[in-house]
Amino acid sequence: MSERRDKMIRVLGIETSCDETAASVVALREGAAPEILSSVVLSQIEEHAAFGGVVPEIAARAHVEALDGIVEAALADSGTTLADVDAVAATAGPGLVGGLIVGLMTAKAIAGAARKPLLAINHLEGHALTARLTDGLQFPYLLLLVSGGHTQIVLVRGVGDYRRWATTIDDALGEAFDKTAKMLGLPYPGGPNVERAARDGDPARFAFPRPMKGSAQPDFSFAGLKTAVRQAATAAAPLSDKDVADICASFQAAVSDALADRVGRALVRFREAHPDVAEPALVVAGGVAANAEIRTALQAQCGKRGFRFIAPPLALCTDNAAMIAWAGIERIRAGLPGEDAFAFAPRSRWPLDEVSTPVVGSGRRGAKA
Ligand code: KG4
Ligand code: ZN
Repeated sequence: MSERRDKMIRVLGIETSCDETAASVVALREGAAPEILSSVVLSQIEEHAAFGGVVPEIAARAHVEALDGIVEAALADSGTTLADVDAVAATAGPGLVGGLIVGLMTAKAIAGAARKPLLAINHLEGHALTARLTDGLQFPYLLLLVSGGHTQIVLVRGVGDYRRWATTIDDALGEAFDKTAKMLGLPYPGGPNVERAARDGDPARFAFPRPMKGSAQPDFSFAGLKTAVRQAATAAAPLSDKDVADICASFQAAVSDALADRVGRALVRFREAHPDVAEPALVVAGGVAANAEIRTALQAQCGKRGFRFIAPPLALCTDNAAMIAWAGIERIRAGLPGEDAFAFAPRSRWPLDEVSTPVVGSGRRGAKA
């Protein structure tokens, strides 16, 4: 595709790895900033709320029902037709396999019929490269991904070149928020409800543990914190609104503190590994990055260590297809179309970095893992 280098590249992206059905068209004219021509995201939260979490079968069926219309809407909003796009990029993993099959099969059909190249994209690569779409960030930089299924610190060295520096040895952070909410009788999804309840709470009432704080590796753990929350909730039962607020505030304080400590380790390590990088940066992604207290704690940690703190707009932090289209553009530009996407089978597990030694536990747990 090198003959296209000095022209405009337009890619249609499709994302169906969890509970958002999304499609987007992103364009890049060499020498200019990339442009999101359209980004349509349909959240399935209402379909899953009654079950207190994502139900894979319901998710897959909802993707089947919605995806064609979402792709049409994304093309219409962008003012392009299928004939105008240079390639189709679809999330091929990691995620819930039913949804991945729907997205990838649809993308194969569209790309096959329109005779366009197809790119099978790793969802995590989409998150990892978003800061280049929004802020034109140069490699290398650090990514903190905190969502319902992932809690990782990744060194982003280049397109397709990642090193996972840290992961959770048990629960994902979003999962810890969701489980805390459930224990306290707050509705799904837990994160925003825990944050809301915490506003009126006393963060000093419960001395919850700061998991892994002080350990040399920047890895995470949230299972012990979850147990401490359960014990506090059981001991204080029946819970008043004040108890719930205090537990949420104390939980959030513990999480922010632990996260800042873990990220601080990684920032120090980045400095040591890349003394030549003049303006080092930390990027956050994932639904938990919506949390204001966590953002403040991370920002403070970055300020203390001379790092730029980049938090893309929330709609691009959470799952979306613009990041998948963009990852497709990045791969085309880098001459890395990847494996034969027409023959690619969806991968429910697909680490960004296949060379790092696995940590105890999967690093991906929970409804979204
Ligand atoms: O990135 P995301 O939308 O989906 C994936 O997990 O892929 O992240 C969803 C997670 C859920 O666990 C949700 O509870 C959490 O992000 N979350 C939050 C907040 N908003 C969403 N956690 C803490 N504070 C929030 N404001
Ligand atoms: Zn995600």
